[in-house]
Amino acid sequence: MEIEDIKNVGVVGAGTMGHGIALNFALAGYPVILCDINDDILNNALKNVQKALWLFVEEKLIEKAEAEKAAGNISVTVDLEELSRKSDFITEAIVERSEDKRQLFNRLDSNCPPETILASNTSWLILSDFASDVKRQDKIVITHYFAPPHIVPGVEVCGGPGTSPETYDLACRLMEKTGKIPIRLRKERTGHVINRLQDAMRHEANILWAEGVASAEDIELGIVTTCGFRMPFEGSMKHFDIAGMWRWPKDVLENYAEKEANESWGLSAELVSKTRSRYAEGRPWFMDPDQYENEVEKRDRDLIRRLKALYRNKKE
Ligand SMILES: NC(=O)c1ccc[n+]([C@@H]2O[C@H](COP(=O)([O-])OP(=O)(O)OC[C@H]3O[C@@H](n4cnc5c(N)ncnc54)[C@H](O)[C@@H]3O)[C@@H](O)[C@H]2O)c1
Repeated sequence: MEIEDIKNVGVVGAGTMGHGIALNFALAGYPVILCDINDDILNNALKNVQKALWLFVEEKLIEKAEAEKAAGNISVTVDLEELSRKSDFITEAIVERSEDKRQLFNRLDSNCPPETILASNTSWLILSDFASDVKRQDKIVITHYFAPPHIVPGVEVCGGPGTSPETYDLACRLMEKTGKIPIRLRKERTGHVINRLQDAMRHEANILWAEGVASAEDIELGIVTTCGFRMPFEGSMKHFDIAGMWRWPKDVLENYAEKEANESWGLSAELVSKTRSRYAEGRPWFMDPDQYENEVEKRDRDLIRRLKALYRNKKE
């Protein structure tokens, strides 16, 4: 299947994620069938779609006419067979229960034309957990959106043991075509990449709170006004580079590496030296050293704009 062959999209599950995923496809011009188990849920999903579109128009992201067109691209049904017959690419966003996803994937596999691609929005499961009975192993993939899925740009894309490179590539291109940025996972891992990273921080925050190091409110404030404030510009790979750590004296770096390798962080000395060996040579490991000054300036400009917005919001 080529990207042009995807003409109709199906979304199963119209809750928090499903209605936003459907909206994202609809905004990109795809006719979308949204399916759930009863009409009340579907009506509520349509209301949420309208609310989201109204906000986009209010914030001048799109024109009113575009919003009307996007809303017109979404139809709803409780009939999974109808969705199966009519969709070239289906993503499920139903309850995060392995057995439910297994049953749904098997039903879609039996009902859909052979070329239809089946995707899952699972947060923590992997295809090997629930899709092993599916016959079209080459045409299944995870596209993991982040709430709110019609706004957050990154989507993790992950295959299973049988996913073909064509399906994987097509899923990535479909994400790009619908305004998303694919984050390419090379192998299955429970929680994928980003939820594992988020959970590592949450885990530590909970420990610090439970130990009484700071109040829940101050931990939250600390995240949002420090590392979280910088995060639109730097993630954990870039952070130490842009902080200029590669210019630190060797003994200080060694001290740091020792701390990182300590038992509580569970890192092997080998792993630490792998990421730190460039620092020992006086070079950043992630960034281009020739771009360092430019990147620092870009970051500072970006942060100043965010700071202005913060103060503007405080005054309002
Ligand atoms: N909420 C988030 O922030 C978030 C973020 C990323 C991924 N996810 C994942 O997305 C999926 C959905 O999460 P959610 O938060 O939107 O859940 P939700 O409870 O808001 O919505 C799930 C919807 O699926 C419907 N449903 C359940 N079984 C169904 C079936 N067999 N056929 C049709 N519809 C069915 C339910 O009626 C419900 O409306 C989960 O796998 C979750 O892990 C959630």
